[in-house]
Amino acid sequence: MPYKPTSVWIDTTPHTTYPAPDATLEVDVCVAGGGILGLLTAAQLKRAGRTVAVLEADRVATGVTGYTTAKVTVLHGLVYDEVRSSFGADGARHYAEANRAGLDSIARWTADLGIDCDLRRRPAFTYAEGEDDLGKLRDEVDAGREAGLPLEFVADAGLPWPVAGAVRLDDQLEFHPRRFLLALADHVAGDGSHVCERARVSAVHDGDPCRVETEDGGEVLARHVVIATHYPTLDRGLFFARLSAERSYAIGVRTRGPVPHGMFLSTESPSHSVRATPFDGGELLIVGGEGHKTGTGGDTTERYARLESWARERFDVASVEYRWSAQDAMPLDGIPYVGKLSPASRSIWTASGFRKWGMTNGAAAAIMLADLIEERPNPWLATFDANRFKPLASASKLLKETVSVGAHFFGDRLSGPDLRSMDQLAPGEGALVAHDGDTVAAYREPGGAVLAVSPVCTHLYCHVKWNVAERSWDCPCHGSRFAPDGTVLQGPAVKPLEPRELDQD
Ligand code: FES
Repeated sequence: MPYKPTSVWIDTTPHTTYPAPDATLEVDVCVAGGGILGLLTAAQLKRAGRTVAVLEADRVATGVTGYTTAKVTVLHGLVYDEVRSSFGADGARHYAEANRAGLDSIARWTADLGIDCDLRRRPAFTYAEGEDDLGKLRDEVDAGREAGLPLEFVADAGLPWPVAGAVRLDDQLEFHPRRFLLALADHVAGDGSHVCERARVSAVHDGDPCRVETEDGGEVLARHVVIATHYPTLDRGLFFARLSAERSYAIGVRTRGPVPHGMFLSTESPSHSVRATPFDGGELLIVGGEGHKTGTGGDTTERYARLESWARERFDVASVEYRWSAQDAMPLDGIPYVGKLSPASRSIWTASGFRKWGMTNGAAAAIMLADLIEERPNPWLATFDANRFKPLASASKLLKETVSVGAHFFGDRLSGPDLRSMDQLAPGEGALVAHDGDTVAAYREPGGAVLAVSPVCTHLYCHVKWNVAERSWDCPCHGSRFAPDGTVLQGPAVKPLEPRELDQD
């Protein structure tokens, strides 16, 4: 394999070995999830004098945060004009201020803890290759300025190919997210606070104190619980109906020429992003894009191939060093959800729906969650309220999502298996296969043995699809993902796909 099938962030940092909880822990705040949201929330609360316990289902910063492109910018493609029309000028200002505060908090923690995470200031650009999108860029400049950001329209983005125009925002950040978060985890653990790994939360009981249970019998008693699991596990706020899941792809390449100075995102669809990071004495160019709704990407290996072609058309690519993919939760109305897990929650909080901008939106949500727990007023929460309903902003997307879910729920059942027989399944291939009058989700391992599971997603019973590039079963309805043996990789599902027995001679 000419490339490593992981992110440069995972590959260039050590593994962590925090223990699972081996006794009942008693803390002020229990945080489920060890990504940027969970660790920054925990760090802020610890700084405020609280004891915290972070429970990470796997290893810290190996989930969504381990596979980001890590652009720490307040310029989020084309967002301010959209948010202004849905939430008004105040909503757009709140979004800008919160994300600016999130960016500043990453810079401050880096300085305060002396973290070596390649943090550097760079301009961010949203660029258009065609004249048709120039109007959108000008509207974005107008809305962003009204929200308090010094956006400017420029004709040249500094890319090695011509563009029609771009929005520019100076003084943004890029960094190595895992180096940052591993140092933060180190800071959180100790002095009565804990970071626990391989501690998947299985139940949370609201109360005083709240009681949190882990799959392996661990227990944490806490006055507050924060669900910081990317998708709110234990979905009591019907987030599955208000979030959609999208996958996107990234490659890390060495180039023969210089890399561009900044972070770049195109307006086209699917969009492409570019940034660089220090690597092996030089620079690694990270090219991202080819996004699609989870479970609907077709042959996902072609997504990587198209991304590589796109990069080779624009840069003198010497080698592809890495390739990885990520999953993002997209809010229905354009703004992340931050607040109570459900209207009935007493002391359980959450944040999700960072719309592919998890670095600043995650850091902003951490500030808001800490303010909620510390009972400090926060002006942005009126806009980010997790239990809001914006009928005008949500209705058309809600209808579209509902139609899409219905089409998958019924249509995928009627369409039958992909293959009529198990014999047609090649090594390394997965497909829905007819078996004994039933349909099973079957994956043939390179050695020839077949892993078979039910194709019915354990969340709300849509049929899963095979993701060939990632070797996973992905659900097109709300984005749950499962390993070939049915283990949950990503929620909202919390239970594995049911195993199916096969006679294998
Ligand atoms: Fe909801 Fe599969 S994720 S049905």
